Amino acid sequence: MNIVILAAGMGKRMRSQLPKVLQPLAGKALLDHVLSATAQLQASKQIVVVGHGAQEVKARYEDRTDLVFVMQMPQLGTGHALQVAYEALDLNASHTLVCLGDVPLLSAKTLRALSEEATRSELVLLTVKLDNPQGYGRIVRDEFGRVASIVEEKDATAEQKAIQEVNTGIMMLPTARLQTWLSALKNNNAQAEYYLTDVIHLAATEGVSISTVHPEFVYEVEGVNSKAQLAKLERTWQLAQAEQLLDQGVTLIDPQRIDIRGHLTCGQDVLIDVNNVFEGTVTLEDGVTIGPNCFIRNATIKAGTVIAPFTHIDDAYVGPQCSIGPYARLRPKARLQGYNHIGNFVEVKKSTVDQYSKINHLTYIGDSVIGKRVNVGAGTITCNYNGVEKFQTTIEDDAFIGSGTQLVAPVTVGQGATIGAGTTVTQDAPAHQLTVGRARAQSYPNWKRPIKK
Ligand code: UD1
Ligand code: CA
Repeated sequence: MNIVILAAGMGKRMRSQLPKVLQPLAGKALLDHVLSATAQLQASKQIVVVGHGAQEVKARYEDRTDLVFVMQMPQLGTGHALQVAYEALDLNASHTLVCLGDVPLLSAKTLRALSEEATRSELVLLTVKLDNPQGYGRIVRDEFGRVASIVEEKDATAEQKAIQEVNTGIMMLPTARLQTWLSALKNNNAQAEYYLTDVIHLAATEGVSISTVHPEFVYEVEGVNSKAQLAKLERTWQLAQAEQLLDQGVTLIDPQRIDIRGHLTCGQDVLIDVNNVFEGTVTLEDGVTIGPNCFIRNATIKAGTVIAPFTHIDDAYVGPQCSIGPYARLRPKARLQGYNHIGNFVEVKKSTVDQYSKINHLTYIGDSVIGKRVNVGAGTITCNYNGVEKFQTTIEDDAFIGSGTQLVAPVTVGQGATIGAGTTVTQDAPAHQLTVGRARAQSYPNWKRPIKK
C-alpha cells in the first residue's frame, strides 16, 4: 500500500511559530507519533504532504530517506492534498492509506485492522460514534446501512448533523480509482475546498465495496487543532499509559500525576509516588520505589533500589539495592554498580561507583572511577576540569575520603587509603596510609567580637 500523511495545514488555532505537526505530545512531535504507528505497516511508498512550515518539517526528518515529501501550496483542501500527492504514489499498490498529521494517537493495532479489512473491501473508512459529533464529517448511510457519502459539518442539513457516526479522516482508498475520483472533485461547498470526503459518494454510486472499521479507543482518532485540545489529549494519553501500568501491577499513588514521555518498563512490585516524569527509555526492575517529584530519563534502575524525592537522573545506570536522594543528581554516564548510597545534593557525572560505596552529602564526583566500600565524606569535590581538559580521579577499594576534600585530577587514592578532612590532594595518595594536608587553625584568647552599636 501507499501511505499518505496529510500535514500541510497551518494550525492557525495553535497560535504558534512551530508547525502544528511538530508540536509535542508526550515529548514527541505529533507527526512522530503518526510515523511510529505507520511504521508497523508494510508500505511501498510513504508520502507526507507538507505546506505550512514545510522547511521546518522537512528539516526535522532529514535523515528519513524512506519518506517522500510533497509540497502543497496553497492548501485547497484534503482532496487537493491527495491530488498533489498522486504524482508520488506507487500506482501498483492496491490501496492508499490516508492518515492525518494532526491525529497523533492512532494505534498500530487499529491501522492493522484497517489494512486487514482492505483485503475484503475496496474502500475502508475508519469511523467512530461520538456523543458530540460537532465539527466532524458525518457518515451518511442508505436504507440498507451501506455508506453512501460523507457530509462535512458546514454543509450538513440539520438532519445530517444529528448523525453520530463521524469520519476520522483516516481511510484506505483503491489506488487504481484515485485519478478519476480526484479529478472529478469540485469545490462548490461551504468552505470552497476540494474535499477528499467527496470521493466516498463517487465510490458508492459506482458500486465500490465500502466497509467501516472502528478504533479501540476514541482518543486514537482525536485531532489536535488548539493548545486546549493538545493539553487534553496529553492528559488522556498519560492516563491511558498509567492504566496500562496499573494493569501490569505497578502501584501508582495517583495515576493522574505521572508523565511518561517515551517508554517505561516496570518489573513486579514497583511503586511510583506522585509527580514523576519519565523520559526516553526507562526501566525500573522488581521492587523499585520512586519517591515523589523525580525526573528520570534514559535510565535503568535495578531491583530493590529506592529513589528518594526530588532526584534527577539522566542517562544513568543504577544497580540493585541502592538508596538515591533525596535531591540527588545522576548525570550522563553515571554508573552505580549496586548497594550504593547517594545522598542529598550529590552530583555524579561520567563516573563508575562500585558496590557498597557511599557518597552521602553535598559532593561532586565527575570523571571518576570509585572502587568498592569507599566512603566519600560530605563536601568532597573531584576537581576534574582545568578550563580546557577533563581529568580522571581514581579512588580504590576501601578508601575513606574525609569531609571537605578536594581531589585535583588526575589523581589516584590508593586502596584502603584515608584522606584527612579538608585536604587538597594534588598527588597520588598511597594505599593504606593517612594523607592529610591542612592549614593549622590558631586561636586568639583575647579577641573580642565586634558589638553592634
Ligand atoms: C477533515 C475531514 C472530516 C473529518 C475530519 C477529522 C475533509 C474534507 N474533512 O475535516 O470529514 O471528520 O478531518 O479530523 O477531509 N490538510 C492538508 N491540506 C489541505 C487541507 C488539510 O494537508 O489543503 C491536512 C491538515 O493539515 C490536517 C488534515 O489534512 O492534518 C485535516 O484537515 P482539516 O482542515 O483539519 O480538516 P477538517 O476540517 O478537520
Ligand atoms: Ca482537523
